[in-house]
Amino acid sequence: MSGDTADSLAHASPTHPAGSSSLGPRVPRSPSPLPHHQREGQVTFTVGDAFYRRQSALARDLAVLVATLEKQRLGHLRVLDAMTGSGVRPLRYLLEAGVDWVWANEGNPELADTLHANLAPVDATRYRLTHEDAQAVFFRCYQERDFYDLVDIDNFGSPNPHTSNALWAAKIGGLLYLTSTDARSTSGHDPERSLRIYGASARSHPAVHEQGLRLLIGHAAQTAAARGLGIQPVFSLFTGQVHRAMVRLVKRPTLSSHTYGFLGYCHTCGQFQTVDWRNLGRVICPGDHSTEGSTAPTLSGPLWLGDLHHGPTLAAMTALAETWGWSAQANRLNRMAAEISLPPYYYPLGELGRRGQHDIPNRDHLIAALQTQGYRASVPSCDPQAIKTDAPLYRCLTLARDLR
Ligand SMILES: C[S@@+](CC[C@H](N)C(=O)[O-])C[C@H]1O[C@@H](n2cnc3c(N)ncnc32)[C@H](O)[C@@H]1O
Ligand SMILES: [Zn+2]
Repeated sequence: MSGDTADSLAHASPTHPAGSSSLGPRVPRSPSPLPHHQREGQVTFTVGDAFYRRQSALARDLAVLVATLEKQRLGHLRVLDAMTGSGVRPLRYLLEAGVDWVWANEGNPELADTLHANLAPVDATRYRLTHEDAQAVFFRCYQERDFYDLVDIDNFGSPNPHTSNALWAAKIGGLLYLTSTDARSTSGHDPERSLRIYGASARSHPAVHEQGLRLLIGHAAQTAAARGLGIQPVFSLFTGQVHRAMVRLVKRPTLSSHTYGFLGYCHTCGQFQTVDWRNLGRVICPGDHSTEGSTAPTLSGPLWLGDLHHGPTLAAMTALAETWGWSAQANRLNRMAAEISLPPYYYPLGELGRRGQHDIPNRDHLIAALQTQGYRASVPSCDPQAIKTDAPLYRCLTLARDLR
């Protein structure tokens, strides 16, 4: 779904070319990796029995970019990597982003030898390695008033209870990197589970990849709001199986009925809409209902309706990625930037073809046609085979038909 060329490139080859001093941050060069070693970015490591997915390299690349900028901004950066696996993240944060200190925690003590060996090239005063339950680590941080600039939570499955507990370990103004591999429940295939985990109804519709991000962020925003805090998304990333969001914990509230509400989807005509809490009892589809069928949309939510990304940070990340020669990552960041402030849904091209009863429209031609008509339109970062626009669906269908 989201495996277009740029993404595939990012997954297949996210590394800085070895030996090229003009690309990527300057870190000590290690000899050519042994066959059983992995190389990612500027680091080499052994996976052993640890969990490691090369397809998640893009997620780590973007975190390295943010950490580098944050270190430049603050002058000093401490990271808590709560579920470190092979230790690839602490290695990359320390050696590529130049962060000062990392607490690398991994719940499985059987990975101790692998982790010690992988972190051996780093000065031992720059990290701490523990094997505890991540929840205990978060609460210990709070108890010891030991708060972190970046808390990285690379959990399996749902983000709960990690997200809410990780708030105890983050500085106000610090970053949380959230994960959900729970696409089944965020896409409407396990409604009872989405109710339990997110306190939300997740329904099935054509824009469920973005819905997964919005449930993840909405859950974090609601948990933070209950403590009198706010969260501000820095970037949001869907890579085909995993939803991730880097969010900043801020003092001012960010959750309101404008940023946290409902998404309506009309199964009859295909039109999306956002729905405010106060209108829940009287939601009617604004779309073309010349055909028979219900005018009552199905509702998903509550979920995050605010921006998925922070524009100025994306711009700085893109500039840094270009400096390092990370063109695939820069392309992805540009696509994220183009969708800021567009509506919280998208229309897959296949869905437009099906609704319009014609061939799948050419994405770039349709976007250009919409823009010529004065609408905003871009490629959604969650699904390259789709369009995101503020135009009503019937305009998309008319323009798609005219393109033929
Ligand atoms: C997705 S893997 C981490 C992968 C690694 N961050 C990376 O980027 O390659 C999740 C890791 O968290 C560990 N883990 C799972 N539950 C945990 C918990 N409650 N506390 C600490 N570690 C946990 C698992 O043993 C596993 O190694
Ligand atoms: Zn409708």
